[in-house]
Amino acid sequence: MMLKGMTAQYLLNQTFKVGPETTLLFHAAAGGVGLIAGQWAKALGATVIGTAGSQDKIDLALAHGYDHVINYRTDNFVSQVKEITNGKGVDVVYDSVGRDTYPASLDCIKPRGLWVSFGNSSGPVDAFSIGVLAQKGSLFATRPTLFGYVATRPALEACANSLFDIVQSNKVRINVNQTYALADAAQAHTDLEARKTSGTTALIP
Ligand SMILES: NC(=O)c1ccc[n+]([C@@H]2O[C@H](COP(=O)([O-])OP(=O)(O)OC[C@H]3O[C@@H](n4cnc5c(N)ncnc54)[C@H](OP(=O)(O)O)[C@@H]3O)[C@@H](O)[C@H]2O)c1
Repeated sequence: MMLKGMTAQYLLNQTFKVGPETTLLFHAAAGGVGLIAGQWAKALGATVIGTAGSQDKIDLALAHGYDHVINYRTDNFVSQVKEITNGKGVDVVYDSVGRDTYPASLDCIKPRGLWVSFGNSSGPVDAFSIGVLAQKGSLFATRPTLFGYVATRPALEACANSLFDIVQSNKVRINVNQTYALADAAQAHTDLEARKTSGTTALIP
């Protein structure tokens, strides 16, 4: 709960202040961070678009706050986002997939919107010219980490308390979708790499 939940907290409340007027795209919507973020963004009143890699994951994301979920393994997520937003694009894209979704993620963002690159599940984004942000519509870009947002005791307590509040309100539920014996940690990593997991995974000592 803490790492994934505080990540969702700072992404939606600090990196960009999500509210009822926000339309956002969150890649890997059925992942551990993704399922928390979908519920939290919905609680903030946003229009929430996600991507996921299978029908099971799409169904799971739809049950966790997402209004629309696109299969980015079979469909073109840029054209789908344009269709959903009537050609406008989204205010902010949260992208933890990295290499596979760059630069297409930038084409989903409205002018002066924000690209939040917060992970590398498919590999890192290669070096690029900052001029691409001008070409794609005067975009903003950030590459945040949780540790940059909880670097002081007051910042950590504020972030954690915000997470405890939303979980206690039942607006965000955090389910452990698969458990492994600690001795099977290698299998857990194999399944993560094969994109077989959804939501939170726990190793049991
Ligand atoms: N910057 C930060 O502060 C911060 C904090 C926490 C986590 N993170 C990062 O955020 C990402 C999500 O974390 P998480 O805990 O939600 O992870 P997770 O549950 O493992 O979700 C990752 C998902 O990424 C998708 N994916 C797309 N391409 C992939 C590939 N080539 N290999 C493996 N998975 C791929 C898979 O979903 P589909 O099958 O649906 O594509 C997978 O389920 C990770 O990259 C993590 O390192 C960053």
